[in-house]
Amino acid sequence: MDRPEIILAPGPTPIPPEVLLAQGSPLVYHRGPGFGSLMRDVIGHLKTLYRTEAADVLLMTASGTGGLESAVQNVCSPGDEVFVPLAGFFAERFQRLAESQGLVVHTTTQAWGERVDPARMADALAEHPVKAVFLTQSETSTGVIQPIEDLARVANDAGALVVVDVVSSLGAVPFAFDDWGIDVAVGGSQKALSASPGLAFVAVSDRAWEASQAATCPRFYFDWATYRRFAELPHPENPWTPAISVMQGLQAALRLYFQDGLDVALARHRTLSTAVKEGVRALGLDLFGEGLDDNWTVTAIRAPEAADADAICDRIRSDYGCVLAPGQGPLKGSVFRIGHFGYFSELDIIRGLAALEMTLEKLGHPVKRGAAVAAAETVFLEA
Ligand SMILES: Cc1ncc(COP(=O)(O)O)c(C=O)c1O
Repeated sequence: MDRPEIILAPGPTPIPPEVLLAQGSPLVYHRGPGFGSLMRDVIGHLKTLYRTEAADVLLMTASGTGGLESAVQNVCSPGDEVFVPLAGFFAERFQRLAESQGLVVHTTTQAWGERVDPARMADALAEHPVKAVFLTQSETSTGVIQPIEDLARVANDAGALVVVDVVSSLGAVPFAFDDWGIDVAVGGSQKALSASPGLAFVAVSDRAWEASQAATCPRFYFDWATYRRFAELPHPENPWTPAISVMQGLQAALRLYFQDGLDVALARHRTLSTAVKEGVRALGLDLFGEGLDDNWTVTAIRAPEAADADAICDRIRSDYGCVLAPGQGPLKGSVFRIGHFGYFSELDIIRGLAALEMTLEKLGHPVKRGAAVAAAETVFLEA
């Protein structure tokens, strides 16, 4: 496949030309005033995105998982009891990450595609008080946006720290670090912001800083205290040589994102999501997962009887260069996913839906040609 691919997967997302130009520009040396002002600008925008005035935002050269690992290492000590409500692939991965650091992980298990139930979590925390709760806002494997505000309230009432994976949700759906009582939230550059992969951002509350002073999980590269020391220099720096070019791109991506303000960017994500969902419904396919109206990051779709979900993903990619995501875990083969967060236009969605129509017809699922495209156009014109 040597033509450019049309990415409609849940990250990395397509990178706009302004970002490519910025990251292809001459390097800003990472110890000095130019890099210091770049860091200030990026962190300022990220704080607006997190809706926080109180937290520090640390920038790390790592994919999102590195930021998540830093959260576990800096907040906890081996043997600490923590809680992870399981309802999909990324929550399960959070559990494995915590176990890898020697934590004792309590869980509740709900079916993939369900929203985590705050009442069940409250019961679980009453039974086993824990140091921290690890939540995933956008469960990318199912498309479900978890009710973080309610879950954080339950965790706060139980005296637990609240650590949230916002890797695939920050910038795509509402999030309010300060108002919701969050202690740590970890995002990534390659998702809703449409910058290149390679940077994790970690928002840290005062309570989380306090916890980090007592935490004894081994850490060096991801030691938050080191990041803070360098960020407090007269010209802020990163402790290690950062992915400078990716940061230059991220700065451009944030400027684009904030061109019309945060509320407009979020409304755009809602409209893209509605257009995809209406388009898919118009093809007679069923959507998967609870809370569809709130799930603005990824749409999970049940494959029709005629075609296995993996076959749909393979065929649409080989015939049209369009990348969708297959189902994970128990959803493999029966569900496929369309990612619609990031720098997408209406036409990006429409051409993806057109490719899906043709692919389904080729695989033997009868469609009314143009039905998905027409349904999406209606959503866009009425938005
Ligand atoms: C919810 C969620 N958490 C964590 C990750 C892992 O992020 P990364 O691949 O940037 O390490 C992803 C990636 O898809 C994700 O969607």
